[in-house]
Amino acid sequence: MDHYRSRSPNSSYHSRPSAYERERGDRGRSHCENQRFRPNSQRQHQSGSAAEQNPLNSRALSTRRELYERDFPVYKQPVEVGSFSLDSERRFFNDGRQMRYYVEPERNPNFDLRDGYKDRFIKRDDSVKEKLDHILRWVVANRSKLNSRTTSASSCALDVDFVTWRGHLTKLLTTPYETREGWMLAATKFRGTIYISEVETEAARRERENRTERHEEMMYWGYKFEQYTCADNVHGAPDPGGVVNTNEAFCTVVQTRLADHRLLFSGEVDCRDKDPGAPAPPACYVELKTSAEICTPKQRSNFHRFKLLKWWAQSFLPGVPRVVAGFRDHEGVVVSVETFHISKISQLIKNEYNCWRPTVCMNFCCDFLTFVKRTVTEDSPSMVYLFSWEPHRDVTFSVHRDSQFSFLPRWYVEEMTRRPDSQHQS
Ligand code: A3P
Ligand code: MG
Repeated sequence: MDHYRSRSPNSSYHSRPSAYERERGDRGRSHCENQRFRPNSQRQHQSGSAAEQNPLNSRALSTRRELYERDFPVYKQPVEVGSFSLDSERRFFNDGRQMRYYVEPERNPNFDLRDGYKDRFIKRDDSVKEKLDHILRWVVANRSKLNSRTTSASSCALDVDFVTWRGHLTKLLTTPYETREGWMLAATKFRGTIYISEVETEAARRERENRTERHEEMMYWGYKFEQYTCADNVHGAPDPGGVVNTNEAFCTVVQTRLADHRLLFSGEVDCRDKDPGAPAPPACYVELKTSAEICTPKQRSNFHRFKLLKWWAQSFLPGVPRVVAGFRDHEGVVVSVETFHISKISQLIKNEYNCWRPTVCMNFCCDFLTFVKRTVTEDSPSMVYLFSWEPHRDVTFSVHRDSQFSFLPRWYVEEMTRRPDSQHQS
């Protein structure tokens, strides 16, 4: 597969550069650098005018949708550079041992998603905040793959601008359309790379600690659907009688570029196509989802406006081409199964009035990363720039040195400070 292709939201990968990439010859200023970071004003965005240059003292970034209605930014086809696994006790392995294989269910399978909730469920402790630790472990184990252009004299240890989780980027993509949940993202620059790690908001903590029993059970349903549709081996069959253990995970690590931002991120992958002739990762991966069955036009509209936005953002980022959805009734029985191709989602939603647009999502993410690059200037593992956002507000930030927010572990800093050729000593 061609590493240098760019992507558009409603087609498959295409090899010709976008109009924007041709115009700037892929060397000039990024399109998104022309986007203004508005401190408090309500000025209208004037595309391309000199007046919108970003004032260097800007302390906030607007999330208003109309500011991001422009050409789709260059988003290179994501390339899988590795993968890792977390076992039933959440231990890290630098390999794909937790990979699962998709076994297509019947169209109307009547899977009972409540089965096993009481007696065959081991739930990951989500009060434990793992921050970027698993990705950092992967980076340490695969450092030579990432710093090919770096010499020991260089201050840049990795050939990327940002390291983060895919889930954090998904939140950024959906921010211009989010009306309920805010977020906090901590950013630290270390040897030229900016690491972005989520900090739980007070509201999210309260919600996590006060979930209803019904909510807890419904969170299990998604994992149970995975168990009905995944086998552990390429020639195996799903085992609905087994234990659902949400500590287990298979994660892909991908590299890509959004405009002039070189990204390295990891995301959990539910399963892959088991056909030996399937394309290479990430194109063979399948995302599994559950959703309430759709019975009315209003429910269909809500599904398009809210669910498909999240599903699209999550899978578009790592280049996962399809989502298999199990639609369930109130009792947690999957009454139908449908496949959604990520490249066709923008067509599916086109008749929804005032609906979300992929270009707004990607341009906002791009501008946020530019904002972070301009803000996070001090290169130090103990410095955290904390970006915060609440619905209907601008993104703002605060700065913290040696605080509770520091998230790069000592073992990582020490390992990355050593010369690459001394990696395996001691
Ligand atoms: P559904 O996606 O079917 O809702 P993912 O789809 O991202 O692989 O996540 C698998 C399952 O984890 C979800 O299934 C859901 O059950 C649970 N889950 C993930 N994120 C969640 C969240 N923020 N709140 C509640 N449940 C979540
Ligand atoms: Mg899933």
